Amino acid sequence: MQNVTTISEVRQILHEVRRSGKSIGCVPTMGALHEGHLSLIEVAVEQSDFVVVTIFVNPTQFAPHEDLSKYPRPLERDLKLCTEAGASLVFHPSAEEMYAKDSQISVTVGSLADCWEGASRPDHFDGVATVVTKLFNVVQPDLAFFGAKDYQQQSIIRAMCRDLDIPVKIVTCPTIREESGLALSSRNVYLSDQEREIAVHISQALLRARERYADAEWSLEQLRKTLRQELNETGGLELDYATIVDPTTLEEVLEKQNTMVALIAARVGTTRLIDNMELSLK
Ligand code: PAJ
Repeated sequence: MQNVTTISEVRQILHEVRRSGKSIGCVPTMGALHEGHLSLIEVAVEQSDFVVVTIFVNPTQFAPHEDLSKYPRPLERDLKLCTEAGASLVFHPSAEEMYAKDSQISVTVGSLADCWEGASRPDHFDGVATVVTKLFNVVQPDLAFFGAKDYQQQSIIRAMCRDLDIPVKIVTCPTIREESGLALSSRNVYLSDQEREIAVHISQALLRARERYADAEWSLEQLRKTLRQELNETGGLELDYATIVDPTTLEEVLEKQNTMVALIAARVGTTRLIDNMELSLK
């Protein structure tokens, strides 16, 4: 596996890869890799000939009060995991390599970034969209792999490729969970044992919502209300939002449709957790 820190080196290597007719898959990450990230790499290895994993803790998607400086950065471990998962190249640039000091231009997301995660994290998705555009311009992949775990993020990246004519096929991969149901996240390392037990209530509430969704006796409004109530009554958990939305527009809908998504964000201690589950009538 190649291990590269500069844009010019990536371009040089990928120029040859492209010339040999191989398809390129890209898995953007911020490192501190866990089974969730590795599952994306595994799908990428299945669906593309040459897999580029990017590891970059992107400063522009963190608000000043967020955990940028204490975000975990176990690079040696990450490189080993990427090799084992079958990645062909890891690109892990410095912030200086990615952003010019006098950088002037960035990507702005429309109303899709105003709701849910965007409402409590203003500018977050502009930072994500900007760095993903830059990574796509460096790697020029045929396919890129994102987790359903960050549901709004993958919706925004899909909309961005459509609206900016970026010729990358976005593949959304299922959320990987611990046996307890807790969705894997790099931020789970911040949770104490007791907080972990509290956090499990999030996926349990989602599972109950999924069961009730197919039951005609449960209206969508009742489902939403119960989902919120159950989480509000969970000691040690501070609910930010719990909602049921259309998978593409992310708008709350009043009538059940074939497929919808339940989205949750909550704080356990000082750690903000998000999770979601697709609800389907079948
Ligand atoms: P990061 O949080 O490192 O996540 C990288 C990718 O892993 C994202 O597509 C995310 O949805 C996916 N992922 C995280 N946890 C997962 C899980 N439990 N199961 C499946 N996939 C999971 O998301 C980012 O980084 C950044 O915003 C990034 C897109 C790299 C831009 O900086």
